[in-house]
Amino acid sequence: MALDLSAFARVSLGHWPTPLDECPRLGAALGGVRVLVKRDDVSGLGVGGNKLRKLEFLLAAAVDGGADTVITFGALQTNHGRLTAAACARLGLRCELILTRDVPRTGEAYERSGNMALHTLYGATVHLCDDQRAVDETYAQVVERATAAGHTIATIPVGGSNALGVLGYVAATDELFTQLDAAGVVPDRLVVPVGSAGTVAGVALATELLGRSTRVVGACVSHTAAESLADIRRLTGEAAALLGAPEPTLAGVHTDDRAVGPGYGIPTDQMWAAVRLFAETEGITLDPVYTGKAAACLVDQARTGEIAPGETVVFLHTGGLPGLFAYAPDLRT
Ligand SMILES: Cc1ncc(COP(=O)(O)O)c(C=O)c1O
Repeated sequence: MALDLSAFARVSLGHWPTPLDECPRLGAALGGVRVLVKRDDVSGLGVGGNKLRKLEFLLAAAVDGGADTVITFGALQTNHGRLTAAACARLGLRCELILTRDVPRTGEAYERSGNMALHTLYGATVHLCDDQRAVDETYAQVVERATAAGHTIATIPVGGSNALGVLGYVAATDELFTQLDAAGVVPDRLVVPVGSAGTVAGVALATELLGRSTRVVGACVSHTAAESLADIRRLTGEAAALLGAPEPTLAGVHTDDRAVGPGYGIPTDQMWAAVRLFAETEGITLDPVYTGKAAACLVDQARTGEIAPGETVVFLHTGGLPGLFAYAPDLRT
């Protein structure tokens, strides 16, 4: 490993390295682009996904701090919540998920299937809230009850996105470039979904620390391009400080919000078209909330010629499979 993270405690949660798959039929459909997909969707525990990388650092710090209870947050169909629950099960920790109904979607599939079914299967206690005020109140009550019962709490932010969580994708990007170097592949761009931005922040920071000129494209799924860039700047700055590295320039980082549509978690036709394209050309399953929208961004960049034929693109598949089942009724149309 070129980047040394050995000073940071880490628990083992995933199967690393994840595969790096050549996708020639997808590349042909995109007009002659060379596409490789980094398969962090098949990282193992709890159906897999990007959050395991962050949780390896976040939960190690929690355990070192004496915590036996982990509290975190998200939307009903949070993949981060599901993987926190699975990782807590693996580590013998209590897990409390405080979830918000902030996606305008109801129905049996959305409210009970997909990640919602898995949170409790992995043993988490789920608290459902209608808005941020309810989240704040519920959090205070959960902390009070757990403390009174003698538990020690670690609170993990939405998406696991803080400086320590970012290190998960610093490690992942180091792993990715090791694979690319071994295969003799020099990528022109890395396409990464952006929600709370910890994932792309790790990719951007490591790409810069490794001295690579690869462009990092953050494909936004919830916030605007400007907001996402501000989040990336804050998180990369904090993570660089943790590593004792200089403040990153982010010169090669671009954020693109063309595929967000009406908002976080709200499906678009372009997203479904991209989900079907990956499935029908390569048998790769994307999700409607994150990777589907990031793929829609990639497809549109190829369609408009922003990605030139012959370019080499690595698409980071961050997981989210259970979310597909939460939206399954839409797939019938
Ligand atoms: C499947 C999936 N992809 C991408 C992301 C975005 O990662 P980040 O929040 O680090 O930007 C998430 C976050 O929840 C996710 O669950």
